[in-house]
Amino acid sequence: MAHGGAPAGWLDVGVNLNPLGVPDAIRQVVATVRFDRYADLDPRAAERHLAADAGVAASAVLLTAGASEALRLIAATELRPGGRALIAGPTYGEYARLAVLSGADVAECRATPPGFRPPVSALERALRRSGPVVAFVCDPNNPTGRALAPADLRRLVDALGDPASRQPRLLVIDQSFEPFADRRSPVGELLATGRVVVVRSLTKLLSSPGIRVGYVIGPPRLVSRLRSLRDPWPVGAHAIAAASAATWTLDPAARRQIREWRRALADGLRARGLRPHPSTANFLLVEVGPAAEALVAQAARRRVGIRWCANFGLPGFVRLAVRPPAEQERLFAVLDAILPMLP
Ligand SMILES: Cc1ncc(COP(=O)(O)O)c(C=O)c1O
Repeated sequence: MAHGGAPAGWLDVGVNLNPLGVPDAIRQVVATVRFDRYADLDPRAAERHLAADAGVAASAVLLTAGASEALRLIAATELRPGGRALIAGPTYGEYARLAVLSGADVAECRATPPGFRPPVSALERALRRSGPVVAFVCDPNNPTGRALAPADLRRLVDALGDPASRQPRLLVIDQSFEPFADRRSPVGELLATGRVVVVRSLTKLLSSPGIRVGYVIGPPRLVSRLRSLRDPWPVGAHAIAAASAATWTLDPAARRQIREWRRALADGLRARGLRPHPSTANFLLVEVGPAAEALVAQAARRRVGIRWCANFGLPGFVRLAVRPPAEQERLFAVLDAILPMLP
């Protein structure tokens, strides 16, 4: 599958879901959802709940069918033929695909190994040089796992210039993996500039990709433009119910647990001669070299789904999700069987 996702019954380390699984509160609320009335499709209470959770006005929030719908609406309203999209790469391919579909020109500033530090200075220069622009950053970034420091986010917003100017210049921050990061993003401060729109997937945090749920936080005028473009009833009753019970923050014990599992994964990979890169997220970008594709193919023969990173422009890399210890042990056992066979 283009975005990862293994068949049922496989060990899937190719998608980056919360390794702690579906929160009990979400499971319970979704199990009791009514879906026999149009009234079940009213998102307003869920939007008020998410707005309160984020500390913003309800008019700043739009509930969407996953982060995917949020990104599509933003590209469709804010980009047009001849417009410019600037992307912090290597990253999630949807930003470029949606920008191209909108007819915009796409430019990328790429982080490079070793370390894949976010290319902040290059982005800043590109933002200062360009006129109207929609810039996309994924923070923490998929697939590198690197997060932008608060000071770097501020530099990018400063480079967008004066919010009062008539130039349409916007920074889209995809925070889909932010709850797993070791630091919090200064999101309230960034939103207050009026030049930032935040996209959040709940499908990763709630480990519920089958419930298509995410949301946008942005300037109310932008949010109402996005709203005006939608089909009727775009978000299903189960997603609305899940959003009404969701909170964006993972408690400290959960984050500590995930960090420990991430460290154990990195140690186990290094012990096997692989090279995981530093990550603050619930996944690791791992340098394998020319055998990366063969590793993914051999793992698939053993029903383990690993994400090959060729379509991020990184053919010598794979991405591995942080999973609980029993799953991690299965992954290591499969790697122990495969690695000696690789070219
Ligand atoms: C960075 C990023 N943003 C957005 C999405 C889409 O999320 P959703 O399932 O909420 O549509 C993904 C899915 O992999 C992703 O990796």
